[in-house]
Amino acid sequence: MISSEDNALLTQVGPGTPGGELLRRYWMPVCALKDLNENDPKKRVRILGEDLVLFRDAKGNYGLIPEHCPHRHVSLYFGFVEADGIRCPYHGWKFGTDGSCLEQPFEGGNEALRKQACQTSYPVQQMAGLLFTYMGPAPSPLLPRWETAVRKDGTRSIAVLPTHNCNWLQAQENSVDPTHTYYLHGHMLLQKRADNESAADVAYFHRPIEAFDFELCIEPAWAGIRKSRVYGGDRPERELGHPALFPNMLIAPQGKSLTHHFRVPADDSHTNIFWIEFFPTPDGSLVEQADEDIVVRHIEHPVGPDGEYELTTFVGQDLMAWETQGRVYDRSKELTGVSDRGIYMLRNLLRKQIEAVQAGKDPVGVVRDPAINDVIKFQFSEGQARLAREMEAAE
Ligand code: FES
Ligand SMILES: [Fe+2]
Repeated sequence: MISSEDNALLTQVGPGTPGGELLRRYWMPVCALKDLNENDPKKRVRILGEDLVLFRDAKGNYGLIPEHCPHRHVSLYFGFVEADGIRCPYHGWKFGTDGSCLEQPFEGGNEALRKQACQTSYPVQQMAGLLFTYMGPAPSPLLPRWETAVRKDGTRSIAVLPTHNCNWLQAQENSVDPTHTYYLHGHMLLQKRADNESAADVAYFHRPIEAFDFELCIEPAWAGIRKSRVYGGDRPERELGHPALFPNMLIAPQGKSLTHHFRVPADDSHTNIFWIEFFPTPDGSLVEQADEDIVVRHIEHPVGPDGEYELTTFVGQDLMAWETQGRVYDRSKELTGVSDRGIYMLRNLLRKQIEAVQAGKDPVGVVRDPAINDVIKFQFSEGQARLAREMEAAE
């Protein structure tokens, strides 16, 4: 349990809030590369409490600028994407990818007005089939080259999850909650997919959890909390663990893939989630895969017209858990125990990094040195991939 004031400190994401100022120090994905193309060159993006429009001009440059035109606040999303910018649908003011106002057709060349109309723009970079932005103060840090995004010994796909109707920290706290997998995933799958008892995910997660541990990791190029479990039963295993990366990411073995989760706050009570799924080749052989060829799948929100959650998938199960905690979970009313130790480690880390930013320092996990950004490597449990391979071979 924490105080209501502390809860607000840790969960608010808007501009000017302590939590929002911290989150603005990190690159965040905003769109799958394939979802912005010549036929569909613009998207609305709500991120960290700001409404933006993302567009790709005819030269292939990306712009991410405030959605509402500075003239009379019509949405630029409905505007015209041109060779060098986006033109407002109302009176035709035009903005470049850097946010500068390029034209004001009916203003007779009023240079002072044109300068006043220049907008903020946030930098956009492409990596691993995703477009990332950085919304903090200049100079922007490097976009971290996590191994899931840059390794060449495998292939990648992207998943765009539905907008979650809850605060981002509910998702992130789940990533340092090692015991939830037994009931929420293993047991739920057995109940809901009774014909599927031999599936690798059930076999993996429906084992007794005999012990669990947490390790705080502060490395030069990343920080976070690694959780690990010891399983008993007829497939005993001591996991090496996998990391929840500060502030809003998780890298988890999911079957044969290493899945990098990004929980991107849209605002205090909505979160957009993107996954990079990296499938290593079994023999370590290298694969050529252009970013443009990375397949993107969109996952539907699991609540049906009857208001019931569809609970036969991990996404549906986790989303039900996080959304039913409340839009912004009130941590002043919880009753926690020893299994929640990792959650307190995360909250402490978050508080300390908010203070670091307030003191004018870079928080952990911000990368500025190219020498440590070649490939950022992690340690993972092999168990799930091994089990998935064994069960596939036995079929
Ligand atoms: S509102 Fe955009 S040009 Fe007038
Ligand atoms: Fe989960």
